[in-house]
Amino acid sequence: MKFGFTLTILSTCLFANSHASNFNCSAPPNLGLFDIHSCCRMPEIDLGEAPVKCNAYINTLQMQIVNNNVNGISRNNNTNKSDENNKTEEEKTHQQNTPPHVDYPAFAHICYPECIYRETISMTENEFNMENIKKFLSKNINKRDKDIVPQIVQSFETCLNNINNAMRAAGIETFEKLPVGCSPFASLLYGCVNAETFLHCPKKMWNDDYYCNVAKKFEEQCNPLPHVILPIS
Ligand SMILES: *[C@@H]1O[C@H](CO)[C@@H](O)[C@H](O)[C@H]1NC(C)=O
Ligand SMILES: *[C@@H]1O[C@H](CO)[C@@H](O)[C@H](O)[C@H]1NC(C)=O
Ligand SMILES: *[C@@H]1O[C@H](CO)[C@@H](O)[C@H](O)[C@H]1NC(C)=O
Ligand SMILES: *[C@@H]1O[C@H](CO)[C@@H](O)[C@H](O)[C@H]1NC(C)=O
Repeated sequence: MKFGFTLTILSTCLFANSHASNFNCSAPPNLGLFDIHSCCRMPEIDLGEAPVKCNAYINTLQMQIVNNNVNGISRNNNTNKSDENNKTEEEKTHQQNTPPHVDYPAFAHICYPECIYRETISMTENEFNMENIKKFLSKNINKRDKDIVPQIVQSFETCLNNINNAMRAAGIETFEKLPVGCSPFASLLYGCVNAETFLHCPKKMWNDDYYCNVAKKFEEQCNPLPHVILPIS
């Protein structure tokens, strides 16, 4: 799984219809095959052992789910052969080549970021630690990308405040954990930090082309903080 700038919200759907900065947020501009990840250059970051450890952790959780059928998130255990016969050859081949636990289920997208934050001690116990985050980023982001470090730190601060305030306003102390044991907080923060950093991408790392600028304007107008859907409203 890629750990970088991902804006799920904008993934494929932008139309080259306008120079206007007043978008209809229900009708995102379609920019065709435009790749939004090309807009704000991703910093090169050395995550050390964390990705390997976290992939192993995700696999462990997956095995646990397969074996114990953890509530509500087990795979469809359909042994009905008549369904099987209706699959296309392509589907069957795909199935044979990919053992059931290899695809990335929803819980992995939630547990993986939390694991990365814990492994890099950005998160200790259940709290994000800004001092550790700053140290980690300063130390592990390639020098040529160092311009983005203060912005990422700023994005963490903005997003932590914003999400915590939203939770407080809703009278929620902590988000409920998934049955496999991780909390959605880290992945929400991750999504928010990515979007916030995209919106405040340092000039040096920004690809100043038409599509990127339209995408950014759309995000600014239509995807306000916390840039992700909190499990509150
Ligand atoms: C915005 O887009 C939606 C979906 O296409 C459409 O139903 C709606 O009428 C549009 N609103 C305006 C003000 O154009
Ligand atoms: C699938 O169903 C079979 C038979 O009902 C059961 O023995 C097996 O444990 C189930 N597997 C999972 C992953 O739930
Ligand atoms: C299998 O699927 C068929 C057709 O969808 C259905 O008629 C049958 O009852 C199913 N069998 C079981 C064991 O679910
Ligand atoms: C399998 O496909 C046939 C025809 O394409 C259809 O009539 C039948 O309902 C399908 N069965 C199942 C279990 O989906």
